[in-house]
Amino acid sequence: MTELVYTLVQAVHNLGAVAVVASPAVALGLRGRGEHVEINERRLAWVLLAAWGLQAASGAGFAAASYGLKGALPEVTGVALAALAIKMAATACGFTLGAALLRARRLASGRPRAVAWGLALGLAVAALLAAAPLRWYL
Ligand code: HEM
Repeated sequence: MTELVYTLVQAVHNLGAVAVVASPAVALGLRGRGEHVEINERRLAWVLLAAWGLQAASGAGFAAASYGLKGALPEVTGVALAALAIKMAATACGFTLGAALLRARRLASGRPRAVAWGLALGLAVAALLAAAPLRWYL
């Protein structure tokens, strides 16, 4: 039962990881081909926002599963703690960036929005890289 719960949380978390990387990558790819249409970018910004939200929720889901099933949170120290901090900071910034992309209609075209998508991709890659030490130093 414990393994099944962790597996389900991990499955959701892994799909969210794909979406936080894929949405800015697709947006930048469309821009690179000169095919960035406002409606596409808004859809991708919604996917980005939802994906970061999903990562925060499923990340918290790991903690909830540990507490609920084992009665305690895992001890996170040293390298693992630094990696977790990076993931949480990236998630907070990524979610804020997704919301900003949806709000700032005036940034709809041109360089500022391209920079925002680039930043979003950088944050996603940083979180993905931090997942490795979190996994092996926890
Ligand atoms: C609030 C934000 C986040 C929290 C609290 C969080 C927490 C966690 C935890 C506790 C694990 C399991 C570690 C283990 O026991 O092995 C995990 C795994 C993972 N996380 Fe996150 N995470 C967050 C955000 C992200 C983001 C934004 C991404 C990707 C862009 C991501 C990608 C992954 C991946 C790929 C794994 C699996 C690592 C492996 O087993 O090899 N996480 N995360």
